[in-house]
Amino acid sequence: MSDYKFIAGDKKWWRQAVVYQIYPRSFADLNGDGIGDLAGMIDRVPYLKSLSIDAVWLSPFYPSELADGGYDVADYRNVDPRIGTLEEFDKLIEELHKVNIRVFVDIVPNHSSDQHEWFQAALKAGRGSPERDRYIFHDGIGENGDIRPSELVSHFGPTGWTRVTEPDGTPGQWYLHLFAPEQPDFNWDNQEVRDDFIKTLRFWSDRGVDGFRIDVAHALTKDFSDGLPARSTMDIDPTKPDGSDPLFDRDEVHEIYRQWRKVFNEYNPPRVAVAEASAPAHRLGAYASEETLGQAFNFDLLHADWNTKRFKHLISNSMKRAEKSGSSNTWVLSNHDVVRHPTRYGLPDKTDLVKWYISEGKSAPLDAKQGIDRARASTMLILALPGSTYLYQGEELGLFEVADTPREAMQDPQWFRNPGKARSRDGCRIPLPWATNQSALGGSSFGFGPGGSHLPMPADFGKYSVAANEADTNSVLNLYRTAIGMRKGLQCAEEIKFIFNWNRSVLHFARPNGWQSFTNFGKSPVKLPKGKVLLSSQPLVGNQVPGETTVWLQA
Ligand code: NOJ
Ligand code: CA
Repeated sequence: MSDYKFIAGDKKWWRQAVVYQIYPRSFADLNGDGIGDLAGMIDRVPYLKSLSIDAVWLSPFYPSELADGGYDVADYRNVDPRIGTLEEFDKLIEELHKVNIRVFVDIVPNHSSDQHEWFQAALKAGRGSPERDRYIFHDGIGENGDIRPSELVSHFGPTGWTRVTEPDGTPGQWYLHLFAPEQPDFNWDNQEVRDDFIKTLRFWSDRGVDGFRIDVAHALTKDFSDGLPARSTMDIDPTKPDGSDPLFDRDEVHEIYRQWRKVFNEYNPPRVAVAEASAPAHRLGAYASEETLGQAFNFDLLHADWNTKRFKHLISNSMKRAEKSGSSNTWVLSNHDVVRHPTRYGLPDKTDLVKWYISEGKSAPLDAKQGIDRARASTMLILALPGSTYLYQGEELGLFEVADTPREAMQDPQWFRNPGKARSRDGCRIPLPWATNQSALGGSSFGFGPGGSHLPMPADFGKYSVAANEADTNSVLNLYRTAIGMRKGLQCAEEIKFIFNWNRSVLHFARPNGWQSFTNFGKSPVKLPKGKVLLSSQPLVGNQVPGETTVWLQA
């Protein structure tokens, strides 16, 4: 086990950090089996260091049947043998800490895999057993119990209930799953469940993990005292934005996080956490307080069109919320669940992304230049804001969403279980291209590894590779490296002041130390304001800021 050492920097490092999300199966494959692995990450630590990031967040790497890309965890305190070993995990932490990069791991507490030993035990133990009490089992309706307990749908398809076969071979009870049937929900009223997650948090904290990303953090506690929910969507009930929805964002969930906080604070430095919670904006602060998880993702920008007014409104609201909860802001443009942002910005406004994906990218024209220009500008904009920025692997290469993956190669349950209704998240999970030449390492995966890749990589992926980016001084990668590096030296108090501009396409603000960010959302050039230019997402033309460009200035 690695001997955890305090990394230089203050205890509040997470408040203004740049965190890079690694989707382990698609990052780097050292042994050539087509699946990214821990050894591949260790090999690429110098690359991670070159990004000047403060931390990485590893999406699940635990043993899993991969019914949901690893978010179906079969053993919370181990590594999937296809990805590596615990020893390799320790080595990775050690190597990352040596270069001052901290590590977040993903905790998936709402549900386990159906292959988890507890769920297997629940199946064997039968009705009314303590083993079944760790999950949410109910009898079906009707004389034979063959009608599902309620009309609840799941995130991934038509029903949130699946029937089991009892140990004696007869059709039996039903269990609840908000996601795929292979992801049974835990019963958080059960003390053993609570204790086991504390054990997991300690297990990884003892190994030197610095922080945790909490999956579906708003769904753990449920209250069925008014009957089983029979809803047809998985969104929080808009008439219950106050903690009274039976499935989501109940006030009781914070008791769990207050207990976790005590565990985090046993460590030096205290472990940190970020909640993935789709709760109403005014309730996110409760997840982000110092007594609970400390930070919560703000996903507003994932759904925002490229529009000055919209961005300004979302930024102001987020600043107010952060002030109220005492937490810091979080900024996210992409992750492993959404269409990559250069694609979102390159498609006409209001494009139906599901339809676009289903049509293999043919239902609407993609303006790639516009997509990348806006992506470069928006990244610089969010990096200049107070708070933490969460980046998703591949965005630093300018990767677009892949919509034409052969349908037989798809892996995402969201795709299989909602025929004709949902996109596949595989489009943003294609392995990273490292080399320009497809067979650079002898395999066929653009340097991802010496073999193939678990999801097919498009033939033109080489032009987005790390090598191609490195060879071009104006590349997206070089912009990310410069901007993130420069940001470190510019950090100051978590405040901004908007600067008025007559042009309604301009979003201009200043930080207390005189660092300014100026974004031209429009297509026509606008006049550069006074100040020393530090960096620009596009080359300036004389004293004009080109369209869809962000410039940083020092007043
Ligand atoms: C959110 C994760 O980001 C997503 O990938 C996953 O499918 C669900 N939670 C279920 O765990
Ligand atoms: Ca591998």
